[in-house]
Amino acid sequence: MKKSYFLFTALTILMSLSTAISSQSPLLNFLTCFSHNSHASNVIYTPNNTSFLTILNKKMFHKKFQTPTTPKPLAIIAAKDASHVQATIKCAKSNNIQIRIRSGGHDYEGYSYVSDVPFVILDMFNINSVDINLQEETAWVDSGATLGKIYYNIAKKSSSLAFPGGSCFSVGAGGYFSGGGYGNMMRKYGLSVDNIIDAIIVNVNGNILDRKSMGEDLFWAIRGGGGASFGVILSWKLKLVHVPPQITVFNVTRNVDGGATDVVYKWQLIAPKLHKDLFIRAQPTVVQIGNGTKNVVQVIFFGQFLGTTESLLLLISESFPELGLKKSDCFSMPWINSTLFAYSRPIGTPLEALLEEPQAGYSKGQSDYVKKPIPIDALESIWKKMIEGQTLFMQWNPYGGRMEEILSSQTPFPHRAGNLFKIQYFNNWTDGSPKSIESHVNFSRSFYKFMTPYVSNSPREAFLNYRDADIGANHPSNTTKFDIAKTYGIKYFKGNFERLVSVKTKVDPENFFRYEQSIPIRTY
Ligand SMILES: Cc1cc2nc3c(=O)[nH]c(=O)nc-3n(C[C@H](O)[C@H](O)[C@H](O)COP(=O)(O)OP(=O)(O)OC[C@H]3O[C@@H](n4cnc5c(N)ncnc54)[C@H](O)[C@@H]3O)c2cc1C
Ligand SMILES: *[C@@H]1O[C@H](CO)[C@@H](O)[C@H](O)[C@H]1NC(C)=O
Ligand SMILES: *[C@@H]1O[C@H](CO)[C@@H](O)[C@H](O)[C@H]1NC(C)=O
Ligand SMILES: *[C@@H]1O[C@H](CO)[C@@H](O)[C@H](O)[C@H]1NC(C)=O
Ligand SMILES: *[C@@H]1O[C@H](CO)[C@@H](O)[C@H](O)[C@H]1NC(C)=O
Ligand SMILES: *[C@@H]1O[C@H](CO)[C@@H](O)[C@H](O)[C@H]1NC(C)=O
Ligand SMILES: *[C@@H]1O[C@H](CO)[C@@H](O)[C@H](O)[C@H]1NC(C)=O
Ligand SMILES: *[C@@H]1O[C@H](CO)[C@@H](O)[C@H](O)[C@H]1NC(C)=O
Ligand SMILES: *[C@@H]1O[C@H](CO)[C@@H](O)[C@H](O)[C@H]1NC(C)=O
Repeated sequence: MKKSYFLFTALTILMSLSTAISSQSPLLNFLTCFSHNSHASNVIYTPNNTSFLTILNKKMFHKKFQTPTTPKPLAIIAAKDASHVQATIKCAKSNNIQIRIRSGGHDYEGYSYVSDVPFVILDMFNINSVDINLQEETAWVDSGATLGKIYYNIAKKSSSLAFPGGSCFSVGAGGYFSGGGYGNMMRKYGLSVDNIIDAIIVNVNGNILDRKSMGEDLFWAIRGGGGASFGVILSWKLKLVHVPPQITVFNVTRNVDGGATDVVYKWQLIAPKLHKDLFIRAQPTVVQIGNGTKNVVQVIFFGQFLGTTESLLLLISESFPELGLKKSDCFSMPWINSTLFAYSRPIGTPLEALLEEPQAGYSKGQSDYVKKPIPIDALESIWKKMIEGQTLFMQWNPYGGRMEEILSSQTPFPHRAGNLFKIQYFNNWTDGSPKSIESHVNFSRSFYKFMTPYVSNSPREAFLNYRDADIGANHPSNTTKFDIAKTYGIKYFKGNFERLVSVKTKVDPENFFRYEQSIPIRTY
């Protein structure tokens, strides 16, 4: 009895020891391999380093993942140059460890830094130069650069050049560009990726390739198909665009009680057909009135016009008088100032605010595409549903203009002609308790379901940069991995999914670059 107990205990200890060793050893092997392939010792953080959590949280836009129970990486490699990227790929591959590539860390589902499998983070924030070439009107920007840094550096060199990028300054070039990337100038210049002319990528074999050496298929895939399925993008070459030295912006709110629903209805018909220089976003939002005793919906109309206030007012009075825009609503300013205005910064904010680190918060985002105007009575029911949730608002971004001139197959981003606007749902809140997170996420899901009759179907299209784990979820248990991938793949990429699969199968046949919503290799 005693003897067998001893044996049992010894066996248990031995077994747990060997588990400890075997779960530790891939990391130790990785570290040894890395040190043989790179001279840098100070770019790797493991849980033993005191600054591990600081680095992990540095680029973590979503607070819901900053919990003790969120699975942690085995290590974080804060690469400083291409050789660290190459060593990470080589050593992760040889030790069967997955990698998650992170640039700005804004992924809505945390796919650049959270996973249930053993993984290391390849963190790109140190690789962040921005080089402007005025003669060529181009810029080389590294993946770890933020949009704000790109805008800031362009403006330091020129007041008539710009880049059609998104509104959040702290978003990273790595994820933002490889997911398509849109902003307030898309009706004039298309997406960011429509203005990218070269890129540098490290592939699965550790080779450093540019557009010419990677070939047009791979260059096509990384401009909207998501980078992390194909390799690690080091930098991008942007073709800068022309803007007048002064542009005009406005931000007016209309209350539903004061006829905003009619204005929104008209907006759906008009905004996608307006002059290309004019972008007017409608943002239905719940606000409290009567000292917090009543919730109502207010619609914020944000506008950006690449011209003077006078010509804007003329355009609006001809094509959208219902908006009731006044001269006093309009502000004339250089494009660079408008990037601050568009992100709700007060006029007069110093340009250095573009370089700020992000403010993490609790949120869930989703997206939809609208191809037919939503009827008035449906708009009213949508406002009612929003009021139930209180914290969810929408950004309705008008398409048309340049967006409908570009073929759906030109880049992996397929949502071009035929769309009136894209909806971004954004539910954000401050209480971080598990119950609060669950109930807000529940509300987002029920709102998404509620919107079904008014948005695209077969497939219900979605924007990759507004990553949503839900759209690939809830399959019968016998569904193959490929078919699960196809579910989200068709929604994000429509007919371009098959070409993405072909490129993926060619450049990464062993599927090393995989993650929770990556492009699968062809299995048939
Ligand atoms: C507040 C806010 C505002 C936003 N506004 C806009 C907007 O106006 N327009 C718009 O288009 N989008 C917008 N987005 C969405 C944003 O573009 C995406 O979340 C984008 O993926 C973020 O890129 P990142 O580098 O910051 O994120 P990360 O989380 O670092 O990366 C996102 C994805 O890209 C992969 N990736 C990152 N870097 C690389 C690389 N170097 N090589 C290969 N793969 C890489 C990651 O592995 C991950 O799969 C916004 C997001 C937020 C939170
Ligand atoms: C982490 O700790 C190891 C071991 O002490 C050390 O060699 C390495 O330089 C540390 N990493 C960083 C980024 O400081
Ligand atoms: C972390 O420290 C422990 C205790 O000193 C050690 O056993 C382990 O090997 C270290 N891990 C790494 C990755 O350095
Ligand atoms: C709101 O509260 C303030 C101070 O308590 C009060 O003076 C005011 O009348 C209230 N307004 C409304 C609309 O109830
Ligand atoms: C516009 O006005 C609204 C309401 O006054 C405000 O919440 C928002 O931050 C402003 N800016 C933008 C770009 O929406
Ligand atoms: C634009 O920003 C610059 C730098 O902060 C500032 O000097 C200038 O006054 C701003 N112009 C306008 C019209 O807001
Ligand atoms: C939610 O996001 C909006 C727009 O970015 C912001 O104005 C608001 O303060 C945020 N709310 C919370 C609770 O974080
Ligand atoms: C969220 O929804 C699930 C499934 O419908 C339900 O079981 C759960 O109780 C809900 N949670 C909260 C906090 O509302
Ligand atoms: C999966 O199972 C469902 C029923 O549970 C069945 O109807 C379906 O045909 C199965 N699909 C495959 C591919 O086997």
